Amino acid sequence: MVVLISGTGSNMSALVEAARDPAYGAEVVAVGSDRRGTRGIERAEAAGVSAFVVPFRDYADRFEWNRAMAEAISAHEPDLVVSAGFMRILGPAVLQRHTAVNIHPALLPSFPGAHAVRDALAHGVRITGTTIHFLDEGVDSGPIIDQVAVPVEDGDDESSLHERIKTVERRMLVDTVGRLAREGWTVDGRHVRFGRTEHSVTDASDTKENR
Ligand code: GAR
Repeated sequence: MVVLISGTGSNMSALVEAARDPAYGAEVVAVGSDRRGTRGIERAEAAGVSAFVVPFRDYADRFEWNRAMAEAISAHEPDLVVSAGFMRILGPAVLQRHTAVNIHPALLPSFPGAHAVRDALAHGVRITGTTIHFLDEGVDSGPIIDQVAVPVEDGDDESSLHERIKTVERRMLVDTVGRLAREGWTVDGRHVRFGRTEHSVTDASDTKENR
């Protein structure tokens, strides 16, 4: 897999650690980012993982940037792209070539977008959580693979709540990506199941193939 990040990269590091065990069933072939000089890229390099940066600001528009990102990802020939704290929208240039999953720090379809934790707190929900889903060309709208609930505590601010979500999120991400790699998956409309079947990818835009 290629893991895409924009910041700290704690989820990416959890995947890199898990993938050190050959029994995990997947390997991180590269880590990519849209920003130079992030902690996540430093962490990837320190872990001995190949890293690349395609800075958003270096391109005329998001189409050009998406095309460059697609090239950079494809150079590593991944079977799966994992967006783990990646704060840009991946367009058709990437998604027509690669199957991608994304983690989001809320229980989708509630609170999509770049400020999910802040938005959940502002709304006053008592339970929020994290979602892993296949990427489609919408914003946080693809078929859901797994979700875990996280309670909001009295006195939480964005940072305390996000840290609690991230602890749960790392475990969910590692478990889910490992199962996808080992068991394969089936997408039937909006419904995702682990395991392979002959006929079951009914929406080719959701995943490229039934692995
Ligand atoms: C994670 O909580 C992830 O869900 C979120 O960014 C954080 C990255 O943390 N992603 C989004 O908000 C995407 N819309 P990390 O860099 O420490 O893994």
